[in-house]
Amino acid sequence: MLHLAPLSPGFGLEAHGVDLAQPMSDEAFAPILQAFFRGQVLVIRDQRLTAAQFVAFARHFGPPEPHVIDQFHHPDDANILVLSNRVDNGKPLGLADAGTYFHTDYSYLEVPARATTLYSIEVPKVGGNTLFANQYAAYDDLSETMKRKLEPLIAIHHYGNRDERNEASRIAASPLTDEQKARMPLITHPVVRRHPVTGRKALYAVSGSSYGIVGMPEDEAVALLDELAAHATQPKYVYSLAYGVGDVVIWDNASLLHSATLVDAAYPRTLWRITLKEPTLAATSVLATTYVGAGMTYVGAGM
Ligand SMILES: [Fe+2]
Repeated sequence: MLHLAPLSPGFGLEAHGVDLAQPMSDEAFAPILQAFFRGQVLVIRDQRLTAAQFVAFARHFGPPEPHVIDQFHHPDDANILVLSNRVDNGKPLGLADAGTYFHTDYSYLEVPARATTLYSIEVPKVGGNTLFANQYAAYDDLSETMKRKLEPLIAIHHYGNRDERNEASRIAASPLTDEQKARMPLITHPVVRRHPVTGRKALYAVSGSSYGIVGMPEDEAVALLDELAAHATQPKYVYSLAYGVGDVVIWDNASLLHSATLVDAAYPRTLWRITLKEPTLAATSVLATTYVGAGMTYVGAGM
């Protein structure tokens, strides 16, 4: 039996009473999907999963899309990216610093990520939280003038962190090889994006991969994006999630920005990550029907 409790007054849900190691029918999965869209961040505590079991669970949310950084794929399943600061004989066992700035996953791809899920294997003694910023609330709170200004705007994205262009920095995007860079085109997404399932409007990727706005001079576009990013990551929109061993965390990339926090190399930490793309339109409408049909209601503008 799935038990849900709020993680914070604003958003986020914590689930107990579910064993993700067991195969799950679509019917059994439906309440988890609803909790995911309602909570934006869903934490399922106390799991013991093999790579295959973790991938089987993640597939319920959409098709897995392996990360462009392919040096640290899990040996049993390339859909899993290993995040770790452990080093064995001088060889890193995983990607050590990933996304320590506000961004949303795969916003530099034409079909962005619906969900990202992390399975926590090893928790550092100090640090390692993930910060989440609610982009529904950030949009809702904009002035009507700003909403009208943003409505037609299309942002230009590519892989990276607009705020840190020095690849050697720990807060830059993880550097790509030349071959990986060659696979990264320019992509556009609306600045205000309607959530493909809930239909609510949210600010989309105003921090991270957005480098410009179509038809706007670059300095003006960057100034506007910087203003929106500062607004959208204010503490009142942010929840800081601490991990326990065995936690499975899944978040909604269409309604959140998130940021990793740096972990001291003295404190080992290991997570498995799977990123799920937004499903095709047909699959999305089935999910939307399930979602609306389940009688879910939104919690007010503060959510
Ligand atoms: Fe990320």
